[in-house]
Amino acid sequence: MTANGKKPKAEPAPPTTLFLFGAHGDLVKRLLMPALYNLSRDGLLGDGLRIVGVDHNAISDVDFAKKLEDFIRTEAASKIKGNAENALDPQLWEQLAKGISYVQGDFLDDTTYADIARKIAESGTGNAVFYLATAPRFFGEVVQRLGRANLLEESPEAFRRVVIEKPFGSDLATAEALNACLLKVMTEKQIYRIDHYLGKETVQNILISRFSNVLFEAFWNNHYIDHVQITAAETVGVETRGSFFETTGTLRDMVPNHLFQLLAMIAMEPPAAFGADAVRGEKAKVIGAIRPWSVEDARANSVRGQYTAGEIAGKALPGYREEAYVAPDSSTETFVALKVMIDNWRWVGVPFYLRTGKRMSVRDTEIVICFKPAPYAQFRDTEVDELKPTYLKIQIQPNEGMWFDLLAKKPGPTLDMANIELGFAYKDFFEMQPSTGYEALIYDCLTGDQTLFQRADNIENGWRAVQPFLDAWKEDDGIQAYKAGEDGPAAADALLARDGHAWHRLG
Ligand code: BG6
Repeated sequence: MTANGKKPKAEPAPPTTLFLFGAHGDLVKRLLMPALYNLSRDGLLGDGLRIVGVDHNAISDVDFAKKLEDFIRTEAASKIKGNAENALDPQLWEQLAKGISYVQGDFLDDTTYADIARKIAESGTGNAVFYLATAPRFFGEVVQRLGRANLLEESPEAFRRVVIEKPFGSDLATAEALNACLLKVMTEKQIYRIDHYLGKETVQNILISRFSNVLFEAFWNNHYIDHVQITAAETVGVETRGSFFETTGTLRDMVPNHLFQLLAMIAMEPPAAFGADAVRGEKAKVIGAIRPWSVEDARANSVRGQYTAGEIAGKALPGYREEAYVAPDSSTETFVALKVMIDNWRWVGVPFYLRTGKRMSVRDTEIVICFKPAPYAQFRDTEVDELKPTYLKIQIQPNEGMWFDLLAKKPGPTLDMANIELGFAYKDFFEMQPSTGYEALIYDCLTGDQTLFQRADNIENGWRAVQPFLDAWKEDDGIQAYKAGEDGPAAADALLARDGHAWHRLG
């Protein structure tokens, strides 16, 4: 970022040693390595990137590189940029693989950090990024040890950065404690807290479209917007992550992070620049303005669901309690619907309804901005009985784009109306390249741009808004069943019906 807030043209990232903690985990194989390959294909890594896997299993440098290569060729091939078959370009891979090596070590053992220091000393650059793709219990432990080994000390010639995956804490107190622990050994400028939703082009586009088209600002407030619906519906179940999910649940897994990022993009004020401080400052403000519900209000304004056996696209599926590593009497939620209010000048009185769940009818992440109806008086003496509400739908995935639902006159001699659609689909305007969604995030970390990463206050404000729901459910979890293939329990519909609304149909 330059002094005037302008992002310079994308240039190759500076030489860096990138340590991947949790090197044998899924994230590294499925997403991080394919993303690094894509960056290299786009010429954004230069020659100076060294990738060092860190994990407890023993493996040679060559075998580690080979294992990554085999995985990308077989299982992650559809995520890499390339020719029609997405074949791995041998020359390009060779170039990347030259810089791949491995440190075998326990994350809790100080000798691991001595080996890491040696790798940096050998690398020819002092720049280092430590990417914690580990179980969350290691975040604080690893960072403390990096600090003790003086690996987080920066100099004018060498940066040291730490990337932390989610979940960042499991409630407000643990998130605050983790932030305090990190900030003891490094500064906020060195911390890159990931929310992979911010790597999605469609999420970044919300800000760009909102603030580059004057039309949006004209109606973007409580005078014209009746309510907002934010949905992240998945058809997948908990797959192999039963034990993680049992202690996490959908609220913690999706709301304070992904759904609140979407909410912030929709609700924040225009930043003074598209730089990290300005953007994250506005986000912190709007998330901080979410009304802190009392425990009673949190209970009244939330619905928890858990899927039972059902069917999606003709396929019979087990219930959550029958999944591997899930207790047969589990009361962990796999669906939530919430109502939140933002108490600031722009949004006071406009409900934001959030829902997300697994094993819903379709995969669809969308935001629907529902407008107030126009005044009716002029239509009294016509065929029009009522003015149907209109909306703007922003679809994040899978069918990326934006659609305005508007009213128009039906052709014919009488004055009758119908809802019509004005739309923009990404695929009609832009070439959609395969990607993992991590490319921009990794590149920004290597080049020192924190705009797409969560600041400590963003994270804590998110947990502060979610905490009343966690507290309410401690006393009475009120879990409700929905069948796999349904869009949550009936109570989720009742939550909106109570205010005279209905969820927008998914798909
Ligand atoms: C992850 C959650 O952060 O996001 C998963 O842990 C969820 O449970 C995933 O499935 C959803 O991401 P996306 O990009 O598929 O919407």
